[in-house]
Amino acid sequence: MKKNIFVALDFSNFDKAFDVADRVKNDAAGLKVTNELFAICGKEGLKKLAGFGLEIFLDLKVHDVPNTVKKTVASIASLKTVKYLTVHTSGGADMLKAAKETADNLDLLGVTVLTSQSASKEQVKVLAELGLKSGLNGIIASAQEYLSVRSFSKDLKVFCPGIRGLDDKIHDQKRVMGYSEFCNISKNDDKAFAVIGRPIYESGDAGQNIKKIIQSAQ
Ligand code: C5P
Repeated sequence: MKKNIFVALDFSNFDKAFDVADRVKNDAAGLKVTNELFAICGKEGLKKLAGFGLEIFLDLKVHDVPNTVKKTVASIASLKTVKYLTVHTSGGADMLKAAKETADNLDLLGVTVLTSQSASKEQVKVLAELGLKSGLNGIIASAQEYLSVRSFSKDLKVFCPGIRGLDDKIHDQKRVMGYSEFCNISKNDDKAFAVIGRPIYESGDAGQNIKKIIQSAQ
């Protein structure tokens, strides 16, 4: 099976993030960095993480007036180390269009509704369709909406947070799915990814934890 897990490095300590990245590097498809880590490690930290040879996903969830978004996306694109950047689809068509203008080689991913909130499939579909129409490369949705997104687009990349292993805690997530079920419904889809954080890094060895999650789907 192809690697389909992006590991969320939700840390405010770069050494810790680097250590987890090192432990998961052979099993992960990519590394996800949020504001918490980016604020303390900046572009130098991203460069070090990019050294693992995995795709870097910068999850800044950009949401602002079009002019500010356009300039933010240009700054991130200029770093060259980032493959994916998130923007909020709820910012609207003009904001998404402005983001596209300066994205250069960045893939833009549209956040639909946070997986920590309740949402109907219809709500997520409307936002995902807006992302598609606005030329985004992918969207973020829960795995519960994956098939509904695939019903109108085979091309959008779909990144699904809220994925858990068999015995994992759900934490603050609401729209969740087990990793094995996710792999089952997204089989052979090389544009579908799971985003997993706490079940991998919260306790024990991150390297062993990701292996256990992957084995749960075999
Ligand atoms: O620890 P956990 O597996 O819940 O981490 C999920 C990650 O996915 C976090 O980094 C969170 O910021 C991110 N995320 C999310 N829901 C979204 C978009 C991103 O949980 N809609």
